[in-house]
Amino acid sequence: MKPNLNWSELKFGYVPTDYNVRCYYRDGKWGELEISSSEYLSIHMAATALHYGQEAFEGLKAYRGKDGKIRLFRWQENAKRMQNTAQGIRMAEVPDELFRDAVIKAVKLNERFIPPYGTGASLYIRPLLIGSGAEVGIGPAKEFLFVVFVTPVGPYFKEGFNPVKIAIIRDSDRAAPLGTGTFKVGGNYAASLRGFKKAKDAGYSSPMYLDCCEKKYIDEIGAANFFAIKNNTYITPKSTSILPSITNMSLIQLAEDLGLKVERRPIHIDELPSFEEVGACGTAAVITPIGEINDIDKGVVYTYCKDGLPGPISTKLYNTLLGIQCGEIPDPHNWITFIE
Ligand code: PLP
Ligand code: COI
Repeated sequence: MKPNLNWSELKFGYVPTDYNVRCYYRDGKWGELEISSSEYLSIHMAATALHYGQEAFEGLKAYRGKDGKIRLFRWQENAKRMQNTAQGIRMAEVPDELFRDAVIKAVKLNERFIPPYGTGASLYIRPLLIGSGAEVGIGPAKEFLFVVFVTPVGPYFKEGFNPVKIAIIRDSDRAAPLGTGTFKVGGNYAASLRGFKKAKDAGYSSPMYLDCCEKKYIDEIGAANFFAIKNNTYITPKSTSILPSITNMSLIQLAEDLGLKVERRPIHIDELPSFEEVGACGTAAVITPIGEINDIDKGVVYTYCKDGLPGPISTKLYNTLLGIQCGEIPDPHNWITFIE
């Protein structure tokens, strides 16, 4: 039975689904995948995830295609990034096969929650890896829990594919240059909450973080990477404190396919006035055009999309990416896994 949801009105939020899947790492090895219909976890009060932030998560999406088939986008890259994060904070790595099986099982078990094609919504998949073993001294856990749940989502920014306004934040940092910014750990998001609140309270959709040391170079747009377009070139930051976005990696490829040059380099904020288009990209954000960047501290506002519309190259990239994800156009790089 289809759930009673207004698919095209869905926000980016939590909607309960039927099942999640879980797997425990004990005595040096992963156990069997378990299916659960509980939304709760029972974990030890001294679990390292709770005290020392030994926790990682991922985010990827499944789409109901134009042809009715279920498409999963680049799960291998999410598996790899979660393994890299696990190494980064000394957790047991989830092997590719376990990651794939858990994701596919979670999607199939909740198939009735996959939003129909054309609604602008998709099924967000949230793999979670936590240190579940008890420790009081600082050190990695010996036991871990891997969970995958899914939830149908609409656009991350309420504006959807329309220009958003963002604010530069200087009085808090999300991640240190040699810290955990390149890993997808919960602590980075805790660190970003002050910046999010400050930007939201001032009426902006998201904070823009600059490099921690000099506050001159663009790092990230909250929970998304930054890109700019200038002179037929796709420009995106190179930094040791940003998350390597799978969406951005895909857009770099698509930009090259479209004949654009690509530059991955530090981007000084003084370059902002010279950009023709700017945007945020990520699994949740997809491509979100930026219409205004407000440097609140300096009283300077940079504006884009002056006609109120996303720029032509951002639009082309958006249509190409979404077209591949929903099966409207061919998938030349084999990014899609069909779930049958
Ligand atoms: N940057 C941060 C901090 C994020 O949380 C995300 C979301 O995952 C991204 C960038 C975009 O990464 P991806 O495209 O892999 O979703
Ligand atoms: C994603 O794009 O998958 C993210 O992780 C963003 C999320 C933190 C809201």
